[in-house]
Amino acid sequence: MDYFGNTALTTDPDDTQYDIWVVEPDPVLRQKLGLRIGGATGTFDSIPALVSRIAGAEGQGRLGVAILGPGLIDSEGVTRARALADAHPRLAVVIVSEELSTQLLQHAMRAGVRDALSLADADTTLRAAVARVGTQLLAAGGRLNTRAREESLGRVIVSFSTKGGVGKSMLATNLACGLARRSARPVALVDADLQFGDVAVLLGVSPERSVVDAAAALHQGEPDALRRLMVEHPATGLLVLPGPIEPSAADQVTPEQMLMIVETLRRTCAFVVVDMPPHFDDNVLALVECADDVLVVASMDIPSIKNLKVGMQTLDLLSLAGERVKLVLNRANARVQLDVAEVERALSLKTAFQVPSDAAVPQAVNRGVPVIVDNPRAPAARALDAIAEQLFRNEVHEAHAVEAVPEAVMPSRRRGRRRLFG
Ligand SMILES: Nc1ncnc2c1ncn2[C@@H]1O[C@H](COP(=O)(O)OP(=O)(O)O)[C@@H](O)[C@H]1O
Ligand SMILES: [Mg+2]
Repeated sequence: MDYFGNTALTTDPDDTQYDIWVVEPDPVLRQKLGLRIGGATGTFDSIPALVSRIAGAEGQGRLGVAILGPGLIDSEGVTRARALADAHPRLAVVIVSEELSTQLLQHAMRAGVRDALSLADADTTLRAAVARVGTQLLAAGGRLNTRAREESLGRVIVSFSTKGGVGKSMLATNLACGLARRSARPVALVDADLQFGDVAVLLGVSPERSVVDAAAALHQGEPDALRRLMVEHPATGLLVLPGPIEPSAADQVTPEQMLMIVETLRRTCAFVVVDMPPHFDDNVLALVECADDVLVVASMDIPSIKNLKVGMQTLDLLSLAGERVKLVLNRANARVQLDVAEVERALSLKTAFQVPSDAAVPQAVNRGVPVIVDNPRAPAARALDAIAEQLFRNEVHEAHAVEAVPEAVMPSRRRGRRRLFG
């Protein structure tokens, strides 16, 4: 599979079977982009100029890859790309942007853009990107129906807290297993704790490859490699992308790459569950931004709640993620002085889910088996399975239609994505 859910041809593309167009207002850049791909079929200074060419007698019915240069990728760039791709299904659109932010990448992928590169990367990777997209186009017989794909985008669920030891990984692994058992389509679990990720240990799988390898594969334009890097959890069929074994590998993964991994997986998976690190950085921000559900995990002790409150304020989580935030109280029945109402008041959040403190959890952890598999009748397992059921049914009911990309997608990180994407 590739990140569009197609099986790509393994043969080299025959580039006489499709045209390659470059569209860029700046003449110098236009020429440079043409050279990078080893010669374009045609170059244009505007999208209307391209459109009149492909609508003309010679162009009709031909397959083509259109490269939109940095001069077109401003705040309206994604809208332009989308309009072009929608109006011309025999055209695959690739964008080259001055800078590639995680937000631009995400919007572009959702808008049906086949690939997005930064200008700096384009120097070395544009040619390969065009060849790959051309191959996909040939394989699809020129029927790149982007909307159908968007409607089946999987749901991204992150397990988040600003503190370690509160149960993020316990929640992520059990939910992912619960979802995998219910779902006919694949479910993925990504360990985004790049320093001390323990998802593989909690699931008893032995990782050969990690998020770092996945990031490298996608960076080199090999989306098909992603699936092969994942380990299958035998009991549930869950697909696991473990964290790196070497903590020092952590800074090899950029937020763009992290986002690319998740956005790629959601094209073929019904759910992508992400286990987060206990700190807050740009990778975490990118993941929170792209998530459909941000499960904020709190354990019932004062330091944990205080830390979480400060962390959420620093991150401005509630304005960033809004209704996507769901509070999960872990070890909610523990004999402590805090009550639920007190915690909710402190965090300005209503509790969405509770998981009781349960000796079955550490027992399961020590066996390397998630508690919902190890001891399904245990109180914590029942609670976790009920959360999985609820998240699963949500997905089924919502059918997850993605709306059109907003007019201007760029400036504010704080823009409520929920409203934009339903
Ligand atoms: N509901 C629970 N009942 C009992 N023990 C729990 C519960 N949730 C978590 N634990 C224990 O707390 C430890 C830390 O959980 P973990 O999921 O690794 O936290 P985090 O990922 O937030 O650092 C685990 O070893 C687990 O045994
Ligand atoms: Mg953890």
